Amino acid sequence: MSLPSSPPIRGQGQAEGGGLTPAPSSAPSPVPLPVSSPVPSPVPLPAPRPAAGIAQPGHPVPEPEWGLPAGRPATGRLAGFRIGPVELANSLVLAPMAGVADGPFRALCAKLGAGLTVSELANARALTLGSTPTIALTRFQGQPRPFAVQIFGADPETMARAAAAIEAWEICDLIDINMGCPVSKVVKTGAGAAMMRNPRLAGQVIAAVRQAVSLPVTVKFRLGWSSGQINVRDFTKMVLDQGVAAVAVHARTREAMYSGRAQWEHLAGLGDLCGQVPFIANGDLGSPADLEEIQRISGCRGFMVGRAAIGRPWVFAELLGRPLPDEPAVRFAVFRAHLREMLMEHGSKGVALFRVHLFAYLRSHPGASALRRQLCYERNPAVVQAVGREFFLGGPPPSGGREPAVPSGPVAGAA
Ligand SMILES: Cc1cc2nc3c(=O)[nH]c(=O)nc-3n(C[C@H](O)[C@H](O)[C@H](O)COP(=O)(O)O)c2cc1C
Repeated sequence: MSLPSSPPIRGQGQAEGGGLTPAPSSAPSPVPLPVSSPVPSPVPLPAPRPAAGIAQPGHPVPEPEWGLPAGRPATGRLAGFRIGPVELANSLVLAPMAGVADGPFRALCAKLGAGLTVSELANARALTLGSTPTIALTRFQGQPRPFAVQIFGADPETMARAAAAIEAWEICDLIDINMGCPVSKVVKTGAGAAMMRNPRLAGQVIAAVRQAVSLPVTVKFRLGWSSGQINVRDFTKMVLDQGVAAVAVHARTREAMYSGRAQWEHLAGLGDLCGQVPFIANGDLGSPADLEEIQRISGCRGFMVGRAAIGRPWVFAELLGRPLPDEPAVRFAVFRAHLREMLMEHGSKGVALFRVHLFAYLRSHPGASALRRQLCYERNPAVVQAVGREFFLGGPPPSGGREPAVPSGPVAGAA
């Protein structure tokens, strides 16, 4: 079947079949309430305010400016670097996260400081068959660059064709190959983390993709299959032999999935091993101290941040030493912009797809678990926005529907 020549408009952008999406460790699992049972409401939900927060022509709702606060270019461990010819403004990378790091979230994190973002994993075979929802995972109208599209698959030829199609669409700067996904649906096809048990085939996949594209090719993998089969060092040597432009390693095995602490000690010396090829460390990074420690252990050049950014996309600004003004109105503005972009991008499914973020934004709410139960089927964006407003600002807008005063302080535009 021939390849589509251009990516269709994003469809109902859910991650690959939903079943591929591991629950973020911080993400709750919503417990559905029986429809007929009375809903226990320890946390009173704010009344829907249908027009609130969505600026209507002629009735604009003022919003604080937000974004990475102005500052000097990143230096030291935060300094940018190059992946092949692609320049990163700093060393922070938003991790690929199926069902989480879609276009709106990637744009949000880039605006708040991430130097590189990566798409959700996309099935190479589905891409070559022109699957609209899969293609939708790889493109986003407002995508900040640099941007990597991540693909997975175990057939070298299919991977090569998918990579070539993506390159032809000119939607990204890098092609990333997933060799770390632990989900059964992926590993049973020989792809994802199963590649670490078949380095020969993994090498063939990388070689085929490299031959098919002129974009730099990067690879993301894990420590190995299990605690008894840690082969991260040999696997790194193999991918370097194949000429990859950067290496990212999540410091867990496939067996560990997402549980337990990331085992940074197994990354020791990988930065040196990679030499001029940037090595990007990943797993439980969320504070400046984490970055310092993992760089001390591994000699990494870049830092990939995943779950720490869910519900806290401003973590990138904090890691860069340029935190957002500590003002609730700014955080609410980020929340509101995120929700609005989800609605713009995903239409009627936007609220449902926002839920994982909503629960993460609310995780420090004193009534967080009751709220999760109450909101797990909520479809009304006005209710979700009102809950956010109440959480961040402590109440509905003053009469007249106007937001609180715009905070002071230097807040620049994009990262
Ligand atoms: C919800 C979710 C979805 C993920 N999807 C992907 C994916 O599509 N591709 C990938 O390479 N890794 C994926 N991962 C793994 C992350 O990229 C990252 O390696 C992992 O979460 C460890 O980093 P962290 O501790 O900073 O979250 C996913 C992780 C989560 C939590």
